[in-house]
Amino acid sequence: MNVTVIGTGYVGLTTGASLAYLGHEVTCVDVDEKKVEQLSQGIMPFYEPGMKELLQSHPERIHFTSSYWEAVMGADVIFFAVGTPAQSDGSPNLTYLFSAVEETVGYLRMKEKSTVLINKSTVPVGTGDKIAQKVKEASLETTVRVASNPEFLRQARAIQDTFYPDRIVVGGDEVSDAILSQLYSGVLNQSFAAPAYAPRPAGYTSPEYILVDRRSAELAKYAANAFLAMKISFINEIANVCDRVGADVKQVAGIIGKDVRIGSSFLQAGIGYGGSCFPKDTRALQYIADTSGYDFKLLSAVIEVNHSQKYIMLQKLREQLGELAGKQIAVLGLSFKPGTDDLREAPSIPIILELLAEKADVRVHDPVAMNKARSLLPDRVHFAEQIKEALRNADAALLVTEWPEYISLSAEEIRSLMRRPVFIDGRNAMAASDFENADMDYLGIGTRNKK
Ligand code: UGA
Repeated sequence: MNVTVIGTGYVGLTTGASLAYLGHEVTCVDVDEKKVEQLSQGIMPFYEPGMKELLQSHPERIHFTSSYWEAVMGADVIFFAVGTPAQSDGSPNLTYLFSAVEETVGYLRMKEKSTVLINKSTVPVGTGDKIAQKVKEASLETTVRVASNPEFLRQARAIQDTFYPDRIVVGGDEVSDAILSQLYSGVLNQSFAAPAYAPRPAGYTSPEYILVDRRSAELAKYAANAFLAMKISFINEIANVCDRVGADVKQVAGIIGKDVRIGSSFLQAGIGYGGSCFPKDTRALQYIADTSGYDFKLLSAVIEVNHSQKYIMLQKLREQLGELAGKQIAVLGLSFKPGTDDLREAPSIPIILELLAEKADVRVHDPVAMNKARSLLPDRVHFAEQIKEALRNADAALLVTEWPEYISLSAEEIRSLMRRPVFIDGRNAMAASDFENADMDYLGIGTRNKK
């Protein structure tokens, strides 16, 4: 099939590159000409494991352009995968989406061939109906269908999640159903050769294909992210209770996760969720509920808990060191999670800004996100090229992102570099017993730490 993908962010690029891998002819459109030029030369706009290899696997089937004319005229399906950033009231900004829709519909008028418009951007319920209305106003409703196809991929696992999803959700009618099930047949039947950089998970068979109405598909995307965010905020509150009553959240999470009704994933307590999705989508769902006249109290609590959770690390730090002024603090990890250089809503940034406000000397390290972080942090922050450089003579170390290179450090090695033996693990990722053996003060979040 001839596929056009509008928007070359995580979702757009992964969709385009994976569909080209599966045998479709793909055109990726972006209004940013510099980005188009760089992508044409194989230069990636962000760090995502395997993405460069995926893009280079079938260069003859994927190309990049800024021209809507070129992209729209030959397409059987057109994906919208543009950003929908949060506005100050929490509502998503749909300007980019509707300008892409307007532009596309303008060219569709000059085209005879039928086309399916598929929205992949996370949008409020009813946005698909608004796109369908634009199509109707242009008298194109007999040849153009509008479907919703929400995306559930995670950054740092984008390719795996695209090739081996739990489900493929289509919100639309029987025409879009027929086209999309054909488009995704390679994934539905798992009939492709798994690439070395994204091997098929053991035991994986195939995804479930779910056809629903457009509004349910749109809401399901928000509901999925809000539910996962709720699991995180819930276990974080349990961790805070553990800290007060002397229980261990890792053990508690292990026990409750064994119940298949609860499930063991997304019960890793720590300093809360970040990234471009959970914070934005929980606020957007709150806005959607509010504007529909419903006060979604549980969701408000999820957001509130997540906001305060990151500062628990600093409370623990003050309890250990007293005044932070003049203290050398090593911050390990900047990106919102390992495997990405994305700093959007990363807890590291407000934590560092608070440390600076309290006049601490801050040294940071991250395996991939340091360059992006330089423009977000004041000059006073010392960017350490090596982990050892960040830890040397530090009064305390804060593990903010659980990159494997930090987890593999031995407690003895950390102890030998630091001035004071204080290690605060904001992700409960290190082996606490190693620190106890090395005679260090190790503090997790709700992990009943000993000194
Ligand atoms: C999330 C969802 O997991 C995807 O299914 C969804 O498609 C995506 O948002 C999106 O809407 O585009 P992502 O933001 O890439 O994906 O990252 P996750 O791996 O879900 O992690 C989000 C945050 O939650 C991270 O900050 C992570 O550290 C935190 N987290 C995750 C926890 O604190 N505890 C956990 O147990 C799991």
